[in-house]
Amino acid sequence: MSEWKQAVVIGASGGIGGAIADALEDEGVAVTRFARSMTGDAHLDLENEASIVAAAARIAKGPAPDLVIVATGLLHDGERGPEKAIDQLDPAWLARNFAVNAIGPALVAKHLLPIMPRTGKTLFAALSARVGSISDNRMGGWYGYRASKAALNQFIRTLAVEHKRRNDRSIIVALHPGTVDTALSKPFQGNVRPGGLFAPDRAAVQLLDVIDGLKAPDSGKLFDWEGKEVQP
Ligand SMILES: NC(=O)c1ccc[n+]([C@@H]2O[C@H](COP(=O)([O-])OP(=O)(O)OC[C@H]3O[C@@H](n4cnc5c(N)ncnc54)[C@H](OP(=O)(O)O)[C@@H]3O)[C@@H](O)[C@H]2O)c1
Repeated sequence: MSEWKQAVVIGASGGIGGAIADALEDEGVAVTRFARSMTGDAHLDLENEASIVAAAARIAKGPAPDLVIVATGLLHDGERGPEKAIDQLDPAWLARNFAVNAIGPALVAKHLLPIMPRTGKTLFAALSARVGSISDNRMGGWYGYRASKAALNQFIRTLAVEHKRRNDRSIIVALHPGTVDTALSKPFQGNVRPGGLFAPDRAAVQLLDVIDGLKAPDSGKLFDWEGKEVQP
């Protein structure tokens, strides 16, 4: 049985988000799922704050969630994908990366952290990426994705500092899931070393193991799927 009682998964239509929601339910956790492609009161579009407000109002009517996982993300969309070089920088695509990968999860925190419990252990996690680490960047490229994930990691740190004053047992982290076989990674799986590509259900179990092992002093940091801290 899981220590979590009431979870919210944003991006539950995604490869990793769906697998996390399923794994939590398998452990007896009540899960409320939201996604952009879901309809009715399960709809949540990170680029539309009103839909986040509506989701928060729906959640507030039930038991307060002790676990919130934001499993959304953008790397490519149609013809658009990560930039290989500076001549591919496009303001609209960069802005979209920031809207979905950084500003959206921060707005989810804006509206959901206030309805999480003020006492006891709580955890808010956003899926980030190791490539958002500035010190780890040796390859270059992927400007928008890298920079928006770095911004997400900074949002997480800043949220953790502020939210600690509301609940000193709260944990707010960014998580790197490893390379996972989903629509997001599909076009870029060619260079993955053998054994380096996780099935979504395996990635979900690994991330939930990391989440379960986190303690209050871990708040504000980025952890990979093995539970190792990734330096900013
Ligand atoms: N897969 C990997 O190898 C890998 C590696 C490192 C980090 N990550 C991170 O892990 C997270 C999950 O990725 P994934 O691999 O599970 O990708 P995925 O299967 O493509 O899922 C992406 C999710 O993001 C949602 N989304 C995109 N734009 C949105 C918006 N404007 N509003 C609300 N939801 C939106 C999608 O919703 P709809 O489908 O409903 O539109 C979907 O649920 C991302 O943050 C990604 O950066 C993944």
